[in-house]
Amino acid sequence: MFNIIKVNNEQQFNETGAGIIASLLQTNPRAALGLATGGTPVGVYQHLIELHKQGLVSFKEVRSYNLDEYIGLAEDHSESYRRFMNEKLFNHVDIDLNNTHVPSGVSGDGHKAAEEYTQLLEQAGQIDLQLLGLGHNGHIGFNEPADELKAATHVVELDEVTRKANARYFNSIDEVPTHAITMGIGSILKAKQILLMAKGADKAEIVAKALKGPVTTQCPASLLQLHPNVVVIVDQDAGRLL
Ligand code: GLP
Repeated sequence: MFNIIKVNNEQQFNETGAGIIASLLQTNPRAALGLATGGTPVGVYQHLIELHKQGLVSFKEVRSYNLDEYIGLAEDHSESYRRFMNEKLFNHVDIDLNNTHVPSGVSGDGHKAAEEYTQLLEQAGQIDLQLLGLGHNGHIGFNEPADELKAATHVVELDEVTRKANARYFNSIDEVPTHAITMGIGSILKAKQILLMAKGADKAEIVAKALKGPVTTQCPASLLQLHPNVVVIVDQDAGRLL
């Protein structure tokens, strides 16, 4: 169930998120981390880098598995999630890049890449901590609202809502890829612990729906209600309706 932490400002938000990840790595230096992109975790990663610089946390033996990737963006494209992870976290800590995993969006065969990522996750065993942001439509990773959700990693067509929300990072909406590869809901729910983070007034309604509304595939994050160990960090705005 949910352990909801309401914080008062951006700094607390980032420190709380980074603190949870850092304490896990202090007790389990070989932890498997499920990582997320988007605006929400950026400050958390920055704070983790600070903790690393202070010698308080090491990523030397950490294995990481990212949730998703756009199809069709080269790894060095400014908006690819591989590049995001390298720039926002990996390049600034002592993680071995060979131990970092992001689904491949440029293999030419998205379905095969998804299948390979599913196998990789199976070999990895249980993810110790899965970090999640929250889309305005209730998506987690890129699991968009639908009549049915898939358990394993798969190719997904992005919602217009999602493409519009993410267009802010591109020159225009036309440049936002139409498809992505995402870990499925099954893989996400298998994690030992989940850390869901949301901030800002525009997330208040979907946070309430996800945490307190009916469990429905039309709000993929609502399936987190089925998980026994979810920590939720919200700021006052995003947590307003809880
Ligand atoms: C993106 C990502 C998600 C992320 C979500 C929210 O499209 N695929 O993993 O959690 O949308 O993004 P943000 O944190 O920028 O609001």
